[in-house]
Amino acid sequence: RPRVLSGIQPTSGSFHLGNYLGAVRQWVDLQEGHDAFYMVVDLHAITVPQDPAELRKSTRLAAAQLLAAGLDPQRCTLFVQSHVPEHAQLAWVMNCLTGFGEASRMTQFKDKSAKQGAEGTTVGLFTYPILQIADILLYQADRVPVGEDQRQHVEITRDVAERFNSRYGRTFTIPQPYILKETAKIYDLQEPSIKMSKSASSPKGIINLLDEPKVSAKKIKSAVTDTETEIRFDVVDKPGVSNLLTILSTLTGASVPELENRYAGKGYGALKTDLAEVVAGWAEPFRARTREYMEDPETLDSLLAEGADKARTVAAETLAEAYDKVGFVPAK
Ligand code: TYM
Repeated sequence: RPRVLSGIQPTSGSFHLGNYLGAVRQWVDLQEGHDAFYMVVDLHAITVPQDPAELRKSTRLAAAQLLAAGLDPQRCTLFVQSHVPEHAQLAWVMNCLTGFGEASRMTQFKDKSAKQGAEGTTVGLFTYPILQIADILLYQADRVPVGEDQRQHVEITRDVAERFNSRYGRTFTIPQPYILKETAKIYDLQEPSIKMSKSASSPKGIINLLDEPKVSAKKIKSAVTDTETEIRFDVVDKPGVSNLLTILSTLTGASVPELENRYAGKGYGALKTDLAEVVAGWAEPFRARTREYMEDPETLDSLLAEGADKARTVAAETLAEAYDKVGFVPAK
C-alpha cells in the first residue's frame, strides 16, 4: 500500500476552509487504500512566537478537528510531531545536506521573514522547510497531500532525498506532491487574488470551521464578486465567483458546470445564500464532534499516544538506517 504523510500547524485555533478543502479532505479520502500518517506539527509552530498554554490547547484542538473531519485512528496513524523525537534528529542530518542558498529560495520563508522583520526572524524559521523534509522522509512517503502553497517544500524534499541517496546509497523514497487541481488554492473571500490564510487574510476573508454559522454566513454574503451578474467559472475575470463555485462544488459534489446551469439567470445573492447554508450544514456536526473530543482530553491524549507509538516504530527504523549510512557508530 502506498504511504502518505502530511501535517498541519496547530497555531490557527480553528482550521479554515482552505485547510480543509486544500488538504484535510484529501487526508480523509486517502485513509482508504493507503498507509497514512498525519500529524500536528507543533515543532514547526514554534518557529514564530507561541504562548505555551495556547500552543498546548491548540495542538489538542487541531487533533480534535482532524478526528472530527473524519480521520479514523483505526485507519490512519494520527500523532503529534514533538512526540516523535526522530523528526528533530533527522532534521539535523538534512540541515547538513541542504545548501544555504537553496534554503534561502523558499518563498514561504521569504514571506514570513519579511513579516517578522530581521530581529524577529529565527534560525528555526529559516530551517522550517528542512524539518519538513525530515517529516516526509522518515515515513518513506510516496505521496504528500497538501495545498499548492506547500509544493515548493515537497520539491526541495525530493531534491535533498535524491542527494542523500546518490551520496550514501538508496535510502529514501522520493515523494510526490498530491495536490488536487480544483482545490489546490482556496482564495480569500475579500481578496480573491490571494489565498485564504490566517496570516495574510483579513478576518472577513476567512471562513473558520469552528465559527458560529451566523458569522460565516455574513462573511459569505459579503464576499467580493464583480460588477456583472452572471454566475460563471472564470478565474481570470471572475475570481470571486469562481472561488464560491469551487467551494460549493466540493462541499456538495455537484460539478461546476452543473452549478453554472443551476444558477443560470439567478443573481449572486442566490449562490451566496445556498453556499452559506451548505457551509453551515457541514460545519455544524463538525463543531459538535470537535467539542466532544475536547471535552474528553484523556481519550484524546491516549489516542495521540497510540499514534505516536505507531509512528515511532517507522521513524526509528528510518533514522537508524540514515545514521548508519552517514557513518555514525551505532550506540550499543
Ligand atoms: P499549514 O498548517 O499552513 O496548512 C495545512 C494544509 O492546508 C493547506 N492550505 C490550503 N490549501 C488550499 N487553499 C488554501 N487557501 C490553503 N491554506 C492552507 C496547506 O497547503 C497545507 O497542506 N508546512 C505545512 C505543514 C507541514 C507539512 C509537513 C505538510 C509540516 N510538515 C510534512 C506536509 C508534509 C504547513 O504549514 O501547513
